[in-house]
Amino acid sequence: MKITIVGTGYVGLVTGTCFAEIGHEVLCVDNDTSKIEMLRRFEMPIYEKDLPELVKKNVHEKRLQFSTCIEEGNRFSEVIFVAVGTPPGYKGEANMSYVENVGRRVAETMDSYRLLVEKSTVPINTGEQLKRTISKYLSSDIDFDIASNPEFLREGTAIEDALNPDRIVVGIESVRAAELLRKIYAPIIERSGCEFLEMNIASAELTKHASNSFLAMKISFINAVSRICELAGADIQQVAHGMGLDKRISPNFLNAGVGYGGSCFPKDVDAFVHIADQYGYSFELLKEVQRINQSQREHFMQKLQRELWVTQDKTIAILGLAFKPGTDDIRQAPSLYFVPQLLEAKAKLKLWDPIAKAKFDEIHPTLNYYDTPIECATDADIVLILTDWPEIKSMDLDRLKSVMKCPAIIDGRNLFDPKEMKNKKISYYSIGRTH
Ligand SMILES: NC(=O)c1ccc[n+]([C@@H]2O[C@H](COP(=O)([O-])OP(=O)(O)OC[C@H]3O[C@@H](n4cnc5c(N)ncnc54)[C@H](O)[C@@H]3O)[C@@H](O)[C@H]2O)c1
Repeated sequence: MKITIVGTGYVGLVTGTCFAEIGHEVLCVDNDTSKIEMLRRFEMPIYEKDLPELVKKNVHEKRLQFSTCIEEGNRFSEVIFVAVGTPPGYKGEANMSYVENVGRRVAETMDSYRLLVEKSTVPINTGEQLKRTISKYLSSDIDFDIASNPEFLREGTAIEDALNPDRIVVGIESVRAAELLRKIYAPIIERSGCEFLEMNIASAELTKHASNSFLAMKISFINAVSRICELAGADIQQVAHGMGLDKRISPNFLNAGVGYGGSCFPKDVDAFVHIADQYGYSFELLKEVQRINQSQREHFMQKLQRELWVTQDKTIAILGLAFKPGTDDIRQAPSLYFVPQLLEAKAKLKLWDPIAKAKFDEIHPTLNYYDTPIECATDADIVLILTDWPEIKSMDLDRLKSVMKCPAIIDGRNLFDPKEMKNKKISYYSIGRTH
């Protein structure tokens, strides 16, 4: 089938490439000319494992192409996936201007039936709003459908997730839309054996918000328990392990740390709270999830301040800038929370990240970036660990100790064993463990 994807970011590019990989003919459209030019040169605008090879292969096999022209996308296929950003607005609500813009532009150039599929994470009722918008801007009485098909892929394992999803959720209102989507996903359903869930549009939109908020809630829950562990002399790693072996709970998303970040959880929880408020339900549970997340970061900062006493003029090595390993995405990453505060406190910062350095450098171009964790930690008064990159976990701790001014680590990801640190005489503070 021919498929158009509008928005060639983490979701759109991976989805488009995977649709091409399973045999469809895909046109990926983005209004960012530099991104499309890069892709045409086989340079990836984002980091995602295995993506460059898959893009190259599918372009060469003529199933994947790129364009900056939405009209071309509209002509290319009767099915148009919308995968543009829905960043947080001023009060936590999702900014829907990019989605609205695509709906309007598609309507203005539509001359026959189109199915517009919401792939972006959008508030409930976006389907209704899109329908109204398209009807308003259509030049003649043309039939069209809206569908919701929320995306659940995770950066770092996005291709595997897109090709072997746990489930495919579609919100539809017509037999024609359902058939088109079933046909598109047939090869993925066949290879992964996953369920294809058909529901109404509002339910599909809500499924995405409820899923992300539930995962964020799990993280805040374990972070809250980690605080009690610190007060009561318990060990959060052992508690989480004991909980996670219960199949009803599962070990996933039970890692205590500096709080959730990234382009999805903070924004999607904010948006869900906002949507619930709009419908007249005050989602206190999720408001507490947000509060715990914020407090976890403040608590981590206090650990640092306690160890340093005075932050001014101290050299702080920050290991990990991405919000999680396997990605270059720094949107709402803990690093973006701590760096400005430490600069404000007049600390001298040294930074390391294997992939996200370039994106961080665009925001903080005057800071110093290093090629290895050890180079970064050299002459530092303290090391802050913010991302669980394997390169950090595999550091030679004796070497680290020998290059630092004072051997001290504040570990926001619980990568090391406190006992080992004690034996090595490294001051070590982590999350939810007594030291
Ligand atoms: N990143 C994730 O892990 C993830 C996972 C699931 C769902 N989502 C959701 O998917 C959506 C996209 O997320 P993302 O991370 O891929 O965002 P992104 O910022 O990486 O990509 C969005 C792209 O859309 C393009 N764009 C914006 N307006 C456009 C227009 N009018 N025409 C053409 N292109 C346009 C931008 O240039 C950009 O390249 C969001 O709603 C997000 O919440 C993201």
